Amino acid sequence: MKRKVTKAVFPVAGLGTRFLPATKSIPKEIMTLVDRPLIQYAIDEARAAGIKEFIFVTSRGKGALEDYFDLAPVLESALRKKGKDDLLEILKATNMESGAIAYIRQHKAMGLGHAVWCARRLIGNEPFAVMLPDDVIAADKPCLQQMVEAYEETGANMVAAMEVPRDRTNAYGILDVDRDMGDKVLVKGMVEKPEIGKAPSNLAVIGRYILTPKVLQNLNRMKQGAGGEIQLTDAIAEEIGGQGVYGFRFKGQRFDCGSKAGFLQATVSFALARPELHDELMQYLSETVAQREAAE
Ligand code: G1P
Repeated sequence: MKRKVTKAVFPVAGLGTRFLPATKSIPKEIMTLVDRPLIQYAIDEARAAGIKEFIFVTSRGKGALEDYFDLAPVLESALRKKGKDDLLEILKATNMESGAIAYIRQHKAMGLGHAVWCARRLIGNEPFAVMLPDDVIAADKPCLQQMVEAYEETGANMVAAMEVPRDRTNAYGILDVDRDMGDKVLVKGMVEKPEIGKAPSNLAVIGRYILTPKVLQNLNRMKQGAGGEIQLTDAIAEEIGGQGVYGFRFKGQRFDCGSKAGFLQATVSFALARPELHDELMQYLSETVAQREAAE
Protein backbone atom coordinates (compact mmCIF):
# COMPACT_ATOMS: atom_id res chain seq x y z
CA MET A 1 0.00 0.00 0.00
CA LYS A 2 1.24 3.47 -0.83
CA ARG A 3 2.19 5.58 2.18
CA LYS A 4 0.67 9.02 2.56
CA VAL A 5 3.04 11.96 2.13
CA THR A 6 3.13 13.71 5.52
CA LYS A 7 6.67 15.06 5.70
CA ALA A 8 8.21 17.92 3.77
CA VAL A 9 11.81 19.10 3.62
CA PHE A 10 12.54 22.79 3.13
CA PRO A 11 16.14 23.40 2.12
CA VAL A 12 16.80 26.90 3.48
CA ALA A 13 20.54 26.88 4.11
CA GLY A 14 21.49 29.13 1.17
CA LEU A 15 23.25 32.44 1.78
CA GLY A 16 20.90 34.40 -0.45
CA THR A 17 23.79 36.41 -1.87
CA ARG A 18 21.66 37.71 -4.74
CA PHE A 19 19.77 39.78 -2.21
CA LEU A 20 22.72 41.35 -0.40
CA PRO A 21 22.87 43.57 1.54
CA ALA A 22 19.36 42.64 2.80
CA THR A 23 20.39 39.04 3.45
CA LYS A 24 23.39 40.11 5.50
CA SER A 25 21.19 39.97 8.59
CA ILE A 26 17.89 38.41 7.52
CA PRO A 27 17.38 35.00 5.96
CA LYS A 28 16.14 35.24 2.38
CA GLU A 29 13.12 33.13 3.33
CA ILE A 30 11.95 35.86 5.70
CA MET A 31 11.84 38.47 2.94
CA THR A 32 8.23 39.42 2.36
CA LEU A 33 5.88 39.35 -0.57
CA VAL A 34 3.45 42.09 0.50
CA ASP A 35 3.34 41.22 4.22
CA ARG A 36 4.09 37.51 4.36
CA PRO A 37 7.56 35.98 4.32
CA LEU A 38 8.42 33.69 1.42
CA ILE A 39 8.51 30.73 3.77
CA GLN A 40 4.89 31.32 4.83
CA TYR A 41 3.71 30.74 1.26
CA ALA A 42 5.55 27.42 1.18
CA ILE A 43 4.21 26.34 4.57
CA ASP A 44 0.62 27.18 3.63
CA GLU A 45 1.00 25.19 0.43
CA ALA A 46 2.43 22.24 2.35
CA ARG A 47 -0.39 22.30 4.89
CA ALA A 48 -2.99 22.32 2.11
CA ALA A 49 -1.35 19.19 0.71
CA GLY A 50 -1.70 17.35 4.03
CA ILE A 51 1.87 17.77 5.28
CA LYS A 52 2.11 17.33 9.06
CA GLU A 53 5.88 17.42 9.67
CA PHE A 54 8.08 20.24 8.46
CA ILE A 55 11.82 19.72 8.27
CA PHE A 56 14.00 22.76 7.72
CA VAL A 57 17.57 22.28 6.57
CA THR A 58 19.22 25.46 7.80
CA SER A 59 22.64 27.02 8.31
CA ARG A 60 24.25 29.63 10.53
CA GLY A 61 22.33 32.90 10.69
CA LYS A 62 18.85 31.45 10.14
CA GLY A 63 17.64 32.05 13.70
CA ALA A 64 14.93 34.45 12.53
CA LEU A 65 13.23 31.51 10.82
CA GLU A 66 12.99 29.59 14.08
CA ASP A 67 11.58 32.62 15.89
CA TYR A 68 9.07 33.19 13.13
CA PHE A 69 7.37 29.85 13.76
CA ASP A 70 7.50 30.18 17.54
CA LEU A 71 4.84 31.66 19.79
CA ALA A 72 5.36 35.36 20.52
CA PRO A 73 3.83 35.73 24.04
CA VAL A 74 4.63 39.44 24.53
CA LEU A 75 3.27 40.45 21.13
CA GLU A 76 0.24 38.18 21.45
CA SER A 77 -0.75 39.44 24.90
CA ALA A 78 -0.34 43.05 23.76
CA LEU A 79 -2.67 42.37 20.82
CA ARG A 80 -5.13 40.54 23.06
CA LYS A 81 -5.27 43.48 25.49
CA LYS A 82 -6.02 45.82 22.64
CA GLY A 83 -8.71 43.50 21.29
CA LYS A 84 -6.89 43.06 17.97
CA ASP A 85 -8.46 39.72 17.14
CA ASP A 86 -7.88 40.15 13.41
CA LEU A 87 -4.13 40.39 13.91
CA LEU A 88 -4.11 37.48 16.36
CA GLU A 89 -5.87 35.45 13.69
CA ILE A 90 -3.20 36.37 11.12
CA LEU A 91 -0.48 35.26 13.54
CA LYS A 92 -2.08 31.83 13.92
CA ALA A 93 -0.78 30.79 10.49
CA THR A 94 2.76 31.20 11.84
CA ASN A 95 2.32 28.84 14.76
CA MET A 96 3.37 25.25 14.57
CA GLU A 97 2.18 22.45 16.77
CA SER A 98 4.89 21.34 19.19
CA GLY A 99 7.03 18.73 17.52
CA ALA A 100 5.69 19.43 14.03
CA ILE A 101 8.73 21.39 12.99
CA ALA A 102 12.37 20.34 13.08
CA TYR A 103 15.56 22.16 12.19
CA ILE A 104 18.67 20.43 11.06
CA ARG A 105 21.91 22.09 10.03
CA GLN A 106 23.72 21.60 6.80
CA HIS A 107 27.24 22.28 7.96
CA LYS A 108 28.74 22.72 4.51
CA ALA A 109 27.14 24.08 1.35
CA MET A 110 27.52 20.95 -0.76
CA GLY A 111 24.44 21.24 -2.94
CA LEU A 112 20.70 20.65 -2.87
CA GLY A 113 21.06 16.87 -2.85
CA HIS A 114 23.31 17.08 0.18
CA ALA A 115 20.85 19.41 1.94
CA VAL A 116 18.01 16.90 1.48
CA TRP A 117 20.29 14.05 2.58
CA CYS A 118 20.94 15.92 5.86
CA ALA A 119 17.26 15.29 6.72
CA ARG A 120 17.43 11.52 6.07
CA ARG A 121 17.01 10.38 9.69
CA LEU A 122 13.96 12.57 10.16
CA ILE A 123 12.40 11.32 6.94
CA GLY A 124 12.97 7.62 7.56
CA ASN A 125 11.52 5.07 5.20
CA GLU A 126 8.57 6.89 3.68
CA PRO A 127 7.78 9.11 0.71
CA PHE A 128 8.38 12.80 1.35
CA ALA A 129 8.02 16.18 -0.29
CA VAL A 130 10.76 18.72 -0.97
CA MET A 131 9.80 22.36 -1.39
CA LEU A 132 12.15 25.13 -2.50
CA PRO A 133 10.68 28.33 -1.03
CA ASP A 134 12.30 30.45 -3.79
CA ASP A 135 9.78 29.00 -6.19
CA VAL A 136 6.49 30.63 -5.27
CA ILE A 137 3.48 29.26 -7.11
CA ALA A 138 0.15 31.05 -7.25
CA ALA A 139 -2.59 28.53 -8.01
CA ASP A 140 -6.27 27.89 -7.34
CA LYS A 141 -5.39 24.45 -6.02
CA PRO A 142 -1.97 24.66 -4.34
CA CYS A 143 0.75 23.03 -6.45
CA LEU A 144 1.87 20.45 -3.91
CA GLN A 145 -1.73 19.34 -3.41
CA GLN A 146 -2.07 18.81 -7.18
CA MET A 147 1.09 16.72 -7.04
CA VAL A 148 0.05 14.65 -4.03
CA GLU A 149 -3.15 13.75 -5.88
CA ALA A 150 -1.19 12.76 -8.98
CA TYR A 151 1.31 10.83 -6.85
CA GLU A 152 -1.51 8.83 -5.32
CA GLU A 153 -2.19 7.44 -8.81
CA THR A 154 1.41 6.58 -9.70
CA GLY A 155 3.32 5.97 -6.45
CA ALA A 156 6.48 6.99 -8.32
CA ASN A 157 8.85 9.93 -7.88
CA MET A 158 7.37 13.16 -9.15
CA VAL A 159 8.88 16.57 -9.89
CA ALA A 160 6.99 19.75 -10.73
CA ALA A 161 7.69 20.76 -14.31
CA MET A 162 7.22 23.76 -16.54
CA GLU A 163 8.32 24.81 -20.02
CA VAL A 164 11.01 27.51 -19.90
CA PRO A 165 12.61 29.53 -22.72
CA ARG A 166 15.36 27.59 -24.54
CA ASP A 167 17.97 30.13 -23.53
CA ARG A 168 17.19 29.58 -19.84
CA THR A 169 17.56 25.79 -19.72
CA ASN A 170 21.02 26.14 -18.17
CA ALA A 171 19.45 27.43 -14.95
CA TYR A 172 17.34 24.33 -14.27
CA GLY A 173 17.15 20.60 -14.02
CA ILE A 174 15.81 19.56 -17.45
CA LEU A 175 13.67 16.53 -18.26
CA ASP A 176 14.12 14.13 -21.15
CA VAL A 177 10.58 13.05 -21.93
CA ASP A 178 9.72 9.43 -22.66
CA ARG A 179 5.92 9.66 -22.83
CA ASP A 180 3.90 12.87 -22.69
CA MET A 181 0.48 12.39 -21.11
CA GLY A 182 -0.37 16.07 -20.78
CA ASP A 183 -0.23 16.92 -17.10
CA LYS A 184 2.05 13.97 -16.39
CA VAL A 185 5.15 13.07 -18.37
CA LEU A 186 7.14 9.90 -17.94
CA VAL A 187 10.80 10.78 -17.74
CA LYS A 188 13.67 8.89 -19.38
CA GLY A 189 16.46 11.27 -18.42
CA MET A 190 17.22 14.29 -16.23
CA VAL A 191 20.14 16.69 -16.52
CA GLU A 192 21.07 19.39 -14.05
CA LYS A 193 21.79 22.75 -15.68
CA PRO A 194 22.74 21.56 -19.18
CA GLU A 195 24.58 23.97 -21.45
CA ILE A 196 22.29 25.95 -23.73
CA GLY A 197 21.78 23.96 -26.91
CA LYS A 198 22.49 20.65 -25.16
CA ALA A 199 19.28 20.38 -23.15
CA PRO A 200 17.11 17.35 -24.01
CA SER A 201 13.97 19.56 -23.91
CA ASN A 202 12.81 22.84 -22.44
CA LEU A 203 10.75 21.14 -19.72
CA ALA A 204 12.33 22.31 -16.46
CA VAL A 205 12.13 21.02 -12.91
CA ILE A 206 10.49 23.52 -10.56
CA GLY A 207 11.07 23.38 -6.80
CA ARG A 208 8.40 20.87 -5.74
CA TYR A 209 9.17 17.19 -5.45
CA ILE A 210 7.56 14.05 -4.10
CA LEU A 211 10.25 11.46 -3.60
CA THR A 212 10.58 7.89 -2.51
CA PRO A 213 13.06 7.06 0.28
CA LYS A 214 15.20 5.24 -2.30
CA VAL A 215 16.37 8.69 -3.46
CA LEU A 216 17.95 9.19 -0.01
CA GLN A 217 19.86 5.94 -0.44
CA ASN A 218 21.10 7.18 -3.81
CA LEU A 219 22.29 10.37 -2.11
CA ASN A 220 24.33 8.26 0.33
CA ARG A 221 26.86 7.74 -2.46
CA MET A 222 27.56 11.50 -2.49
CA LYS A 223 28.18 11.55 -6.22
CA GLN A 224 29.29 14.99 -7.37
CA GLY A 225 27.42 16.46 -10.30
CA ALA A 226 27.00 19.83 -12.02
CA GLY A 227 29.10 22.57 -10.40
CA GLY A 228 30.87 19.96 -8.25
CA GLU A 229 27.76 19.80 -6.05
CA ILE A 230 25.73 16.85 -4.86
CA GLN A 231 22.66 17.28 -7.01
CA LEU A 232 19.16 16.16 -6.09
CA THR A 233 18.43 15.86 -9.82
CA ASP A 234 21.08 13.12 -10.19
CA ALA A 235 19.78 11.10 -7.24
CA ILE A 236 16.24 11.27 -8.65
CA ALA A 237 17.46 10.35 -12.16
CA GLU A 238 18.88 7.10 -10.76
CA GLU A 239 15.29 6.01 -10.13
CA ILE A 240 14.30 6.26 -13.80
CA GLY A 241 15.00 2.58 -14.34
CA GLY A 242 13.81 1.77 -10.81
CA GLN A 243 10.72 3.17 -9.17
CA GLY A 244 10.16 5.60 -12.04
CA VAL A 245 10.10 9.37 -12.35
CA TYR A 246 7.28 11.59 -13.57
CA GLY A 247 7.26 15.27 -14.38
CA PHE A 248 4.06 17.03 -13.42
CA ARG A 249 2.87 20.11 -15.31
CA PHE A 250 1.12 21.96 -12.50
CA LYS A 251 -1.62 24.50 -13.05
CA GLY A 252 -0.54 27.87 -11.69
CA GLN A 253 1.86 30.73 -12.08
CA ARG A 254 5.39 30.25 -10.83
CA PHE A 255 7.56 33.13 -9.68
CA ASP A 256 11.32 32.75 -9.39
CA CYS A 257 11.78 34.59 -6.10
CA GLY A 258 15.46 33.67 -6.14
CA SER A 259 15.90 36.51 -8.62
CA LYS A 260 15.15 40.18 -8.06
CA ALA A 261 12.95 40.50 -11.14
CA GLY A 262 10.94 37.41 -10.15
CA PHE A 263 10.60 38.64 -6.59
CA LEU A 264 9.26 42.00 -7.78
CA GLN A 265 6.83 40.36 -10.19
CA ALA A 266 5.53 38.17 -7.38
CA THR A 267 5.18 41.20 -5.12
CA VAL A 268 3.10 43.07 -7.69
CA SER A 269 1.02 40.03 -8.54
CA PHE A 270 0.22 39.10 -4.92
CA ALA A 271 -0.49 42.74 -4.07
CA LEU A 272 -2.93 43.05 -6.99
CA ALA A 273 -4.70 39.95 -5.71
CA ARG A 274 -5.46 41.76 -2.43
CA PRO A 275 -8.76 43.62 -2.63
CA GLU A 276 -7.53 46.28 -0.16
CA LEU A 277 -4.47 47.07 -2.29
CA HIS A 278 -5.70 46.42 -5.80
CA ASP A 279 -7.18 49.79 -6.84
CA GLU A 280 -4.43 52.01 -5.44
CA LEU A 281 -1.66 49.87 -6.88
CA MET A 282 -3.33 49.54 -10.28
CA GLN A 283 -3.65 53.29 -10.49
CA TYR A 284 -0.03 53.79 -9.51
CA LEU A 285 1.19 51.20 -12.00
CA SER A 286 -0.77 52.56 -14.93
CA GLU A 287 0.22 56.17 -14.19
CA THR A 288 3.86 55.19 -13.79
CA VAL A 289 3.90 53.20 -17.02
CA ALA A 290 2.23 56.06 -18.90
CA GLN A 291 4.72 58.62 -17.53
CA ARG A 292 7.70 56.42 -18.38
CA GLU A 293 6.43 55.77 -21.87
CA ALA A 294 5.89 59.49 -22.45
CA ALA A 295 9.41 60.24 -21.23
CA GLU A 296 11.12 57.56 -23.35
C1 G1P B 1 17.36 23.91 -8.13
C2 G1P B 1 17.48 22.52 -8.75
C3 G1P B 1 17.07 22.55 -10.23
C4 G1P B 1 15.68 23.14 -10.37
C5 G1P B 1 15.61 24.51 -9.69
C6 G1P B 1 14.17 25.02 -9.67
O1 G1P B 1 18.34 24.74 -8.71
O2 G1P B 1 18.82 22.06 -8.62
O3 G1P B 1 17.08 21.25 -10.77
O4 G1P B 1 15.35 23.25 -11.74
O5 G1P B 1 16.06 24.45 -8.33
O6 G1P B 1 14.07 26.29 -9.14
P1 G1P B 1 18.77 26.16 -8.08
O7 G1P B 1 17.79 27.16 -8.60
O8 G1P B 1 18.71 26.01 -6.60
O9 G1P B 1 20.15 26.42 -8.58
